[in-house]
Amino acid sequence: MKTYKLAVIKGDGIGPEIVDETLKVLDKTGERFGFGFEYLPCKMGGEAIDATGVPLPQETIDVCKSADSVLLGAVGGEKWDTLPGHLRPEAGLLGIRGALGLYANLRPARIFAPLKNASPIKSEIIGEGLDILVVRELTGGIYFGERGRREVNGAAAAYDTEQYTVPEIERIARVGFEMAQKRGKKLTSVDKANVLESSRLWRETVIALAAEYPDVQLNHMYVDNCAMQLVRNPRQFDVIVTSNIFGDILSDEASMISGSIGMLASASLARGSFGLYEPIHGSAPDIAGKGVANPLATILSAAMLLQYSLGEPKAAAAIERAVNEVLATLRTPDIFEPGCQKAGTIEVGDAVCARL
Ligand code: IPM
Ligand code: MG
Repeated sequence: MKTYKLAVIKGDGIGPEIVDETLKVLDKTGERFGFGFEYLPCKMGGEAIDATGVPLPQETIDVCKSADSVLLGAVGGEKWDTLPGHLRPEAGLLGIRGALGLYANLRPARIFAPLKNASPIKSEIIGEGLDILVVRELTGGIYFGERGRREVNGAAAAYDTEQYTVPEIERIARVGFEMAQKRGKKLTSVDKANVLESSRLWRETVIALAAEYPDVQLNHMYVDNCAMQLVRNPRQFDVIVTSNIFGDILSDEASMISGSIGMLASASLARGSFGLYEPIHGSAPDIAGKGVANPLATILSAAMLLQYSLGEPKAAAAIERAVNEVLATLRTPDIFEPGCQKAGTIEVGDAVCARL
């Protein structure tokens, strides 16, 4: 029997609860489809700060590198919010992206049929539904550029730098084109080329690549317009490809259009098949330990893992089907609607397993 090695970072807040349910679902999926998992626990974020003094211990990087892929719950919490920047849980997240070369962040924002009423956007705008994939560059740009403090004209000042090289733009644009080829064949490249030089290079590079993907319809949009269009007419989008900072902001906006951040999964991919999979939502310290957190975004992240990293698309589809079935009856409080049964984290995990 094939055994996949998964590094597992449960993390902080609700992380451990939602990851436990996801591991149950993975085990059940493996049983049904004929493969198994070996889980390698590792620490990152607040949990790692408490245990080792740093948010991303070298041991975690080593264990992740030895695995087929990584499953992550969530990191962060008030307890660590006053630490200096490089020691905060978020630095662990940025650090692991860099250390593992996770340059392509896939953030699907879609409306699950049973949750149609959850979107804050009017139903006539949503129409039949919504299925947008944000492809965010994840290891370059201003989040990784040179930064610092200095004095300017006698005043204290601070700076961060946005820089992209042509190879960095090409490799993320290729992911955008390839994803579009597998979906609706439409790619929107988002930049701020009317102002930023880095965006002008971004646009030139994407245009030059487009010749290799004649079956994909490419358009360009300024980021401010895109933010507006996502609310005005979100159905015009299929795949959006953009820089680290623009993707950070637009993917939060796109996720809210779907109405249920507790449902949205993500994949961060390196060259080859290696990836890190995590829910889009955070560690929700306010509900941690209460048994009410929605595990479905993490469970759906595991489905992405099976699809993109392990080459098990049938198993991935089975999880998605089971999640949709569960949504028809059982709901955690964040997505509760009258007519459904209110359920806790473990009940929802059990219900997904039962439908596999
Ligand atoms: C995200 C988060 C992170 C980011 C933070 C926590 C560093 O907002 O994954 O979108 O900005 O990338
Ligand atoms: Mg973000």
